Amino acid sequence: MSQWPDTRLLDLLGIELPIIQAPMAGSTGSAMAIAVSHAGGLGSLPCATLNLEQIRAELQAFKQACNGPLNLNFFCHQPPEPDPARDAAWKQALKPYYAELGADFDAPTPVSNRAPFDDATCSLVEAFKPAVVSFHFGLPEASLLARVKATGAKVLSSATTVDEAIWLEQHGCDAIIAMGYEAGGHRGMFLSTDLNTQVGTLALVPQVVDAVSVPVIAAGGIGDHRGIVAALALGASGVQLGTAYLLCPEAKVSAAHRQALQTSKDSETALTNLFTGRPARGITTRIMRELGPISDLAPRFPLAGGALMPLRAISEPNGSSDFSNLWSGQAARLARALPAGELTRSLAEKALTQLRR
Ligand SMILES: Cc1cc2nc3c(=O)[nH]c(=O)nc-3n(C[C@H](O)[C@H](O)[C@H](O)COP(=O)(O)O)c2cc1C
Repeated sequence: MSQWPDTRLLDLLGIELPIIQAPMAGSTGSAMAIAVSHAGGLGSLPCATLNLEQIRAELQAFKQACNGPLNLNFFCHQPPEPDPARDAAWKQALKPYYAELGADFDAPTPVSNRAPFDDATCSLVEAFKPAVVSFHFGLPEASLLARVKATGAKVLSSATTVDEAIWLEQHGCDAIIAMGYEAGGHRGMFLSTDLNTQVGTLALVPQVVDAVSVPVIAAGGIGDHRGIVAALALGASGVQLGTAYLLCPEAKVSAAHRQALQTSKDSETALTNLFTGRPARGITTRIMRELGPISDLAPRFPLAGGALMPLRAISEPNGSSDFSNLWSGQAARLARALPAGELTRSLAEKALTQLRR
């Protein structure tokens, strides 16, 4: 029998520990998912920055190493309409930086992409049949969602307000990630673009628990066993931790990002749209300070990052994060540089010890 007070999520997803390693596009891959799955948690494979071939290779790697359940994660945004005037205005705002770094302002702007869930990725889900499929930014169109559900996969998505949680339940989610304001990475918000609507984890989780009947997974600012115990006390059936896993050796973060995570303070992150066009929480870097973290000029998601690429290509090899996104939640100081499996087991053991007191 499980030692956890609430087994709804464990039963639903076929896991031993109510801990989900957050999918973190660009920062985690199959190695971390394998380690977490072996430890009894739910490992996640984020697909937003991978092409089909790369997703296939990661799936193969997972399958060869592990029989446990896997969470395959996708962004499900609408690709934006072309807006050359906005692109030009944004690049113009960056012109002084191009001059400072000696980047070629007149060269074509590279395209920054985050792939939305589509027919081709849905076919991969049908072929591989992961136990869990999770989405960010709502849910894909009904016909794609029906195909995913027909594979037997349990479907998760992030809600940043009670309204979003109710919407997700009504549209077929099997469990809901209540993503508080503290969380690192992109806000999963999809019913509103107003950042004033965003709710902290402590307020969001119990209100979502009261509003829906499916299990709720708390996310945002949970950095150690104390956060896990608190989330369970608020009525969550499990937790999803992102930033806490970023110092693991399996995480694919640059040396500069790693160092920033280890030295930044709780007060040094902000929500910014400069890097992709959608608000995401990251450690404040020079461009966020100088342009302000939110700009009306930033092209729509995911295009804003294109004009920053030439600046990053010059600055990052010199160890500078001036123009880089350093995604992080507000609880980075709680992260520990342990292998992901060991971290998962330690979080669970300490949470259980505290729950038994
Ligand atoms: C580096 C980073 C990348 C992220 N990328 C994704 C992603 O690709 N898909 C997703 O659903 N959530 C993504 N998130 C959000 C996480 O799933 C999770 O909600 C968040 O990390 C929880 O907050 P915490 O960082 O305070 O633990 C990302 C978060 C971080 C820190």
